Formats: sequence, structure tokens, C-alpha cells
Amino acid sequence: MSAPRAITKAVIPAAGLGTRFLPATKAMPKEMLPVVDKPAIQYVVAEAARAGLNNVLMITGRNKRALEDHFDRVPSLEATLEAKGDMKKLGLVQDATALGDIHYVRQRDPRGLGHAVLCAKQHVGDEPFAVLLGDDLIHEDDDLLSFMIEAQKKTGGSVIALMEVDPEQISAYGCADISHVKGADYVKVEGLVEKPNAEEAPSNLAVIGRYLLHPRVFEILEHTAPGRGNEIQLTDALQELAIADGEGAGVHAVIFRGRRYDTGDKLSYLQANIALAVENDELGDSLTTWLKNFVSSL
Ligand code: G1P
Repeated sequence: MSAPRAITKAVIPAAGLGTRFLPATKAMPKEMLPVVDKPAIQYVVAEAARAGLNNVLMITGRNKRALEDHFDRVPSLEATLEAKGDMKKLGLVQDATALGDIHYVRQRDPRGLGHAVLCAKQHVGDEPFAVLLGDDLIHEDDDLLSFMIEAQKKTGGSVIALMEVDPEQISAYGCADISHVKGADYVKVEGLVEKPNAEEAPSNLAVIGRYLLHPRVFEILEHTAPGRGNEIQLTDALQELAIADGEGAGVHAVIFRGRRYDTGDKLSYLQANIALAVENDELGDSLTTWLKNFVSSL
């Protein structure tokens, strides 16, 4: 096997309608909802940048203009802050634009995550790439992508991320059947099923929103039939890749044991805000004091 090419491109599907957050998302993309003081999507782009993935492609849709505006420069705002000498805020405004080279393509029809990833085919070309789901926020101190990149260098093929969940929650996720690889800190994926019922699930290992994919996935997605929810599922294409032979076949997984928040879910979104605000330099102490009093008054 020749050494796999370094991964530099990240694809971030962000075309979803965000109906779980209506009415907040009636006129605003769900990815722009703030977590403490930054839009949720900025954490994901920053995570990609930390792993050296500076070429980002966002798969957007209608009503997503705010995403492009957020990662663009605003010369008039920057000039005003500079004239005021407010360098701290200027830095905050510029942070989002400094994260990388961001490109956009629209998914014209909402045909599922697999179809969203297929929209990246032309941009990605014939090289391995990452997919980061915008709803999944991985705590900055719990590195996941660089472990996946290390595993991918050893295995070639594709690498996904799994997390143990309560068995009754598995029906909200893709689920993996795995086997252990002797002496390795990654596992082999033997099979995948999208959102199985608890009784049919092969394990309690849930697919979370970080993937390193071999470009062969595009060829598979082109003929993947609609699956769960009548949508083209990335999980189904990965199942095919897991059991295929030849160049680019095979799926391995890293099991993540760190902190992950699903900012597309109301409860997990609130938890992300509290957990990150407690660690925030400006807010942490006062919020912790308030929280303790609040909880003891319940
Ligand atoms: C998607 C994937 C699913 C995965 C999940 C992780 O589902 O289809 O396999 O487990 O992301 O967040 P969604 O949450 O978009 O329904």
C-alpha cells in the first residue's frame, strides 16, 4: 500500500433546516445559534483548522447566507473597532476569517447526508478528505481528529468516530458492528446500520459526526439508493465501503471517550453552553457561583 495522501480538505454539511429549533431558526441558520459567544459552526471550523484542515467546503442551502457573511471580512466594522482602539473585539471579529479558506456549494435538494457529501465531489477530487457535521461540537481539549488522522495513515481507507451510548439512544445514530485489531488503538468496522431499533442494533457504538473518507465513497454515493427516512445515507455508503475489496476499501474507527455536544438537540445545546461558559475566563467564576445557588434552590 502506498502512503496515503495528507488530508487538507474538510467538508461541513450545513444545509439542514434546523426544524428542531423553530422558531429560533425561522430566519436564521441553526449553525449560527451561539454557544456562549460564538456561532456553533465556528467551533467546528476551528476544530478543522487545528487539525490542519484549512481548506473547508460548506454544503449550504437556501437561507444560509449568514454563514458566508460570518466567515467573510467586514471592513467597515473592523475600521470602526480599530478607530476606537478596541483591539480585543477586533481580534474576535477577525478570528472567524482567519480560520482557513472557506468555499461554499449549495445542496439544491434536501436528499440526505450522503447526497450532501456527494455535492463535495468536484471540490474534493481524488484525495482523502474529512467530513465534520456542524451539529457535533467536540470539546477543544479532547482531540479526536488528530487521532483519526493517525489511524488513517496506518489503515488507508476510511476512518470514522464512534462513541458508546445508552442502548436506548442508539436509534438516533448510525450504529457499528466492530472487531478489535490486535495491538491497535482503533477498531475495524465490520458493518454499519443507520438508526436501528434498539433490539436490532449490533452494538451500542454510535457513529458521531467526524469522518475521514477515501474518495471512493463518491463512486458509491452515486448509486446509493435512498435508505432510512427516504434519504441517501452516508452510513449506507460506508457500509458498502466497509465490505468492499480493492483500492480505498475498508472502514476503521476510533472510539471517542471525550466530551461531545449535539448542538442540534435542545438539551445538549443548553449543556454545551453551560459547560463551556463555566470554563470561560470572563464568565466562569460568576456563572459557577450562580449555578451552585440556583441548583440548591431547586
Ligand atoms: C447523522 C448520521 C448518523 C450519525 C449522526 C451523528 O444523523 O446520519 O449516522 O450517527 O449524524 O450526529 P443526523 O443526526 O443528521 O440525523
